Amino acid sequence: MYRSNTCGELRLSDLNKEVTLSGWVSRIRKMGGMTFIDLRDRYGITQLSFNQEVNHDLWEQANSLSREWVVQVTGTVQERSSKNPRIPTGEIEIIVNKLTVLNASKTPPFTIETDSDGGDELRMKYRYLDLRRDVVRQNLELRHKMALETRRYLDERKFLEVETPVLIGSTPEGARDFIVPSRMNPGQFYALPQSPQLFKQLLMVAGFDRYFQIVKCFRDEDLRADRQPEFTQIDCEMSFVEQDDVLNTFEGLTKHLFKTIKGVDLPPFPRMSYADAMRLYGSDKPDTRFGMTFVELKELTMGRDFKVFDSAEYVGAIRVPGCASYTRRQLDELTDFVKRPQIGALGLIYLRYNDDGTLKSSVDKFYSEEDLRKWAERCEAVPGDLILVLAGETEKTRKQLSELRLEMGARLGLRDKHRFECLWVVDFPLLEKDEELNRFFAKHHPFTSPKAEDVPLLDTNPGAVRANAYDLVINGVEIGGGSIRIHDSQLQAKMFSVLGFTEEKAREQFGFLMSAFQYGAPPHGGIAFGLDRFVSIFAGLDSIRDTIAFPKNTAGRDVMIDAPSSVEKEQLDELGIQLKPRSGAH
Ligand code: AMO
Repeated sequence: MYRSNTCGELRLSDLNKEVTLSGWVSRIRKMGGMTFIDLRDRYGITQLSFNQEVNHDLWEQANSLSREWVVQVTGTVQERSSKNPRIPTGEIEIIVNKLTVLNASKTPPFTIETDSDGGDELRMKYRYLDLRRDVVRQNLELRHKMALETRRYLDERKFLEVETPVLIGSTPEGARDFIVPSRMNPGQFYALPQSPQLFKQLLMVAGFDRYFQIVKCFRDEDLRADRQPEFTQIDCEMSFVEQDDVLNTFEGLTKHLFKTIKGVDLPPFPRMSYADAMRLYGSDKPDTRFGMTFVELKELTMGRDFKVFDSAEYVGAIRVPGCASYTRRQLDELTDFVKRPQIGALGLIYLRYNDDGTLKSSVDKFYSEEDLRKWAERCEAVPGDLILVLAGETEKTRKQLSELRLEMGARLGLRDKHRFECLWVVDFPLLEKDEELNRFFAKHHPFTSPKAEDVPLLDTNPGAVRANAYDLVINGVEIGGGSIRIHDSQLQAKMFSVLGFTEEKAREQFGFLMSAFQYGAPPHGGIAFGLDRFVSIFAGLDSIRDTIAFPKNTAGRDVMIDAPSSVEKEQLDELGIQLKPRSGAH
């Protein structure tokens, strides 16, 4: 028997019990004739005590250990003289009478503590050691619980978990596919699924009625803090439902997770149209933990010879409470912030509503105090507020103002990680125009249905057609998205034609779905949540990386196993693949 107990469970109530523990040596403290070792396993830390006077050999043996050695000890549980209230086992220690080394360890390249001294790259290279740290392990425990509670909730509502294939053809989610050559079909490739979208719709045609799957998806896109090339969806689909049915079911799931895992009761989630989200927040994933919504000032600013505003399509402001006292330097910093290439504004205009009621702006040359007072009124400003204004082309300026709003929210401490604001964004546009290519793309995917009342616009003004599509946003993060699908093959054909697919091309890519739809497709719709993002919100993390046991770095590499890597020439030959020599290679 390797152990009678774990390192996290012994308490004062276990006094004088003889126990056996196994684990890793976390810390060794030598204090004169006493040596104390913190023994660690997944469940916690227990202090081991060795007394030179009582057992000299054992004490020497303990002194010869090093960090991360794997040991087994037997001893009795005793009350500690100096207790440690920070850990659950802090009132007891084990007076060891037998110590066995199960395995030695090299000195780890960084300290395995909550605050490790290891840099990112190093910790990723030795991820198995990083995973020994509490903080990382706890995220994976949280992930496990969230997946478990999700399965429980969906199972109770008759959702069936069905596995869909990983070696498939291309899926139309808009990112690049990862492709896999087929040895048995030379010159042909599988693609890894960007999502199980087509399969879940086929399962609805098959009559499965309520499907879900906690499933890996693969997208070859540029990586950011909230994106990994392989990530996990809680993917769902339902038959005989309207938008409200899907929203209610998955609002229920979200509340269930918050309640059971975080003990948080959430009020009903507000619903906001995409158009309002863009108008008030400049974003389709607004962070609604704080206000600072956009105020349009265009017509108040016209005709005063200020070219920047006169020529702008849009003039928008945010009211930042209590910041009228910002110094010149702070304002310059904000100007630099909006001018950074990632944001791309040309400049920032401010209006201070001073505590004494006077108004001071960076455009006093053009606007009278009376003009400025109108701006302040429109913004519902009070003395002490700072108003920040950006101008330019509508869409771009709203995006820039959105970044500025988030920055100000962060500066003012309004983006509290322990508060959760959930929101449904609904009525997304069906199509998005690529101005360069001068053609429409599906904003969500080509199977999303248009709102019935907007269908006639498909012929006249496709850009104005709204979709039965929705996103769940929590604290400014897009957690999930879905839609009610087209189940009518004629409307689907129409959609393909608006998207510029020839009938042949549509048949080639989605022929199986179009055929399936001729055999009695029920009305259906669904949604997929990004599990990694969901966990990161629950854990209060800024990146999804630490919700994943073995993540990739920003270059898409797994630095631990060193993938991707080259393969043997024979392997390529077998696949009929010839690599072009890279320029500069010999
Ligand atoms: P969508 O593309 O919106 O919808 O994806 C659903 C959710 O998956 C998460 N997500 C990601 N998470 C981490 N890394 C990524 N690279 C990544 N890409 C997406 C997001 C997102 O909201 N088939 C549709 C769903 C449907 O219509 O039912 C789909 O995949 O949290």
